[in-house]
Amino acid sequence: MKESRKSKLHRREFFKKSVVGIIGSIGSIYANTNFGVANDFKRPSSPTDLDWSAINSNFILKNGVTYMNNASLGMPPMIINDAVKAGYDGISKEPLHGKRKLQDKISKKVIPLLASTFNVKTDEVILTRNASEALFLQTLGLVLKKGDEVVLSTQEHPAALKPWMHRGSKDGVILKYVFIPSPLVSKQDTVNRLMSAVSSKTKAISFCHVTRGGHRYPVKEIADLARRKGIATLVDGAQAVGQFPIDIKNLGCDAYSASLHKWILAPSGSGFLVVRDSSKRFFESPFDLKASTVNSFFDPPGTKDYPVRAAVGTALNFINRIGLDNIEKRCRYLSNYLKEGLKKMEDVKILSSYNHDLSAPGSTIFEKKNLDALDSVKIFEKEINFHIDEHQRDGHNAIRVSTHFYNTTDQIDLFLDTLNSI
Ligand SMILES: Cc1ncc(COP(=O)(O)O)c(C=O)c1O
Repeated sequence: MKESRKSKLHRREFFKKSVVGIIGSIGSIYANTNFGVANDFKRPSSPTDLDWSAINSNFILKNGVTYMNNASLGMPPMIINDAVKAGYDGISKEPLHGKRKLQDKISKKVIPLLASTFNVKTDEVILTRNASEALFLQTLGLVLKKGDEVVLSTQEHPAALKPWMHRGSKDGVILKYVFIPSPLVSKQDTVNRLMSAVSSKTKAISFCHVTRGGHRYPVKEIADLARRKGIATLVDGAQAVGQFPIDIKNLGCDAYSASLHKWILAPSGSGFLVVRDSSKRFFESPFDLKASTVNSFFDPPGTKDYPVRAAVGTALNFINRIGLDNIEKRCRYLSNYLKEGLKKMEDVKILSSYNHDLSAPGSTIFEKKNLDALDSVKIFEKEINFHIDEHQRDGHNAIRVSTHFYNTTDQIDLFLDTLNSI
């Protein structure tokens, strides 16, 4: 039974890979001299599997493994690894030249590409090692005094909460946690709940763009109301960036922290922080640096992981070539396919919304009666070598399936078959 499920998937996947191989050998290799070479693919024109299969030849996922845990860590395509290696090779061959070449590439190419992808200015963004580091920087950098209040939602990730707890105990900042139900009720409900906690002492509201469980918050609406009251908005975009197009200027928040090693598929250990020019008055440097062309005032000083940072350009180039609008459609298509299958199971409760305003495209959470979510993660890996995650938070015993564009409907069928039988 177990074997036949697996071999069914492998037969279908093998057929697809063969088709991809033929297409790949006819097509030329896509080359961008600045950012490396990816196997050729056309920009997909629909969200179906066939339109996306050519892109999959860029990944080196171990044979037999199916990866549906992108919300934890992305699966970088081969060109990203090549770019990182090329960077370290450059440093090994001629350390200072290699370093300077990478620094040049980062400031002249990677940062401008990052800034244009998210519609901010180049001096508003710095690279970080991850979202957690960016969240620490934005939280510790905000100018606050004892007794000032900050509004937080109960759905924040520990990475966003920890720096606030630090401000609470070190600086006497008062943290006001606002309960937000999961699933979300409506955009207006989320806005109302957060704004109702605001008092004359409130100096900031800190919240996710997309929660760990995939719920999507109305950033623009919250930021607009907060700005009118002179309150800063600090956003955790770790789960949002790379799943759909994001215009940070238009969102209107003051600071925005994100991972690049999740949905953007950049090397592990990459993220960014945006602090808007017009918002810098809210912040002071935790490092006491004067801003320069090399270091923004909020950029941690010292030698950096330049090869990783340079390879962020390769990842952005790869993602932009596909198109974030296309990725959003593809991720929605796969998530809806999964939800349709889950809907047929009487003992399953879907917790992710169909409403695009309330949910991210790629992460789906649900509960299955009498199935412990943590156990399910182990069962799926042992039975069919599928990687998923649990979401035992926000009062749930939920399973989280986070599908990126490289997943297929065949994989989802096998996932649903297996879920039905456990
Ligand atoms: C909502 C959210 N914020 C922050 C983080 C931390 O991200 P990073 O590992 O890049 O620090 C995560 C990681 O899963 C997350 O889901």
